Amino acid sequence: MSNPQTLLSAPCRRWQDILSLQDLEPLARQHLPAPVFGYIASAADSGQAMRSNALAFEQFDLLTRVLRDVSQVSTETQLLGQTFRAPIGIAPVGLSALSAYRGDLVLAQAASAHGLPMIMSGSSLIAMEEVARQSPQTWFQAYLPGQMEQVQALIERVKHAGFSTLVITVDTQAQPKLEFARRSGFSAPLRPSVGLAMQGLLHPRWLLGTFLRTIVKHGMPHFENNYAHRGAAIVAKNVTRDFSERGRNDWKRLQAIRDMWPGRLVIKGILHPDDAQLACAHGADGLIVSNHGGRQLDSAPSPLRMLPHVVKQAGKVPVMLDGGIRRGTDVVKALALGAQLVFVGRPCIYAAALGGAPAVALALQLLRDEMTRAMAMMGTNHVHEISPDCLLHPHAAWAPGARHPLAANE
Ligand SMILES: Cc1cc2nc3c(=O)[nH]c(=O)nc-3n(C[C@H](O)[C@H](O)[C@H](O)COP(=O)(O)O)c2cc1C
Repeated sequence: MSNPQTLLSAPCRRWQDILSLQDLEPLARQHLPAPVFGYIASAADSGQAMRSNALAFEQFDLLTRVLRDVSQVSTETQLLGQTFRAPIGIAPVGLSALSAYRGDLVLAQAASAHGLPMIMSGSSLIAMEEVARQSPQTWFQAYLPGQMEQVQALIERVKHAGFSTLVITVDTQAQPKLEFARRSGFSAPLRPSVGLAMQGLLHPRWLLGTFLRTIVKHGMPHFENNYAHRGAAIVAKNVTRDFSERGRNDWKRLQAIRDMWPGRLVIKGILHPDDAQLACAHGADGLIVSNHGGRQLDSAPSPLRMLPHVVKQAGKVPVMLDGGIRRGTDVVKALALGAQLVFVGRPCIYAAALGGAPAVALALQLLRDEMTRAMAMMGTNHVHEISPDCLLHPHAAWAPGARHPLAANE
């Protein structure tokens, strides 16, 4: 196994402290201004959904098998006609270029260097065309605007930019209450104030290395990709972004998009098995089981809990998952319950903020190394050998062939 620390020659002062994805958040909290950190770390309402995302993984143990030759463990996987070095990708994260210099480009570059997928957010501050030019295998995620003509124009733009996989996020029917973000002083756009300026001055590495560097080299960032045209600036007085029409989207609209979009179509934000069935019936090529990292409906079930039920309804359509993935063992548990690939959100953007592409590469490498170790200790050499039989519910008595009810997949 390669030593991830050797991948780095980068500016984070405390690389040796980063031994797992969980080490990134406290470092990012120190590095970023409070409103920017608050935006990333925030969850809806009381944070129940975000907590249950993490806790769900603790409901399962992994069974070891010994004295099998595991000298050739491979995490390689195939999905949607592509081969990836591991079933791990980077989830779409809005405003990446506010926390990390050229955030979307950095994330796309690290993923592509690692042979992994990255989904570029539609709520981003770098034009999609630039990311597609630099990393053409990147997937693009869109939020659907309210009017059908706007949807059509946006899809034409995505097509023209050269993306071949379009991810439609469907779980943002209403604006969530991100209370921690609000209390930290975050708004989108950010409103200029003495408090905001003070936060910049208190975080000089971010101020000089990300914010001022962006403004000097590229001008004030704007929302570039929510529509076919440019949107509001990220720092602006008296501008309110309009989300009011997102609730108008329905299955009929998804069908119209399917008819317009010739590439691979992935639906993100599925939790209910009946919605999984509908998405497949409307031509989805892939599904992402997700509760938006606990940032939409607080009390939404964890994606891991719903995963086997969604997989059952999805039939041959591949199912992916995000939410709470922090360890290689989490990846293995999701795979055992039927996911073909998992995406990671917050830790990747923390890494990008702390040290650009090399830090994102470190995060991805740590996760892949942990996954490789887990597979070896479980006696599995290939991703396709990971099955519900590898899982044990901590409270369940074990018997040969016994499975946790959620693992029942037939
Ligand atoms: C700061 C932030 C911004 C996000 N922006 C988007 C977005 O623009 N589009 C989207 O589909 N999901 C977005 N998400 C949700 C992520 O894609 C993903 O579902 C979630 O972060 C996964 O959970 P994790 O952070 O626990 O890994 C965002 C999440 C965070 C934390």
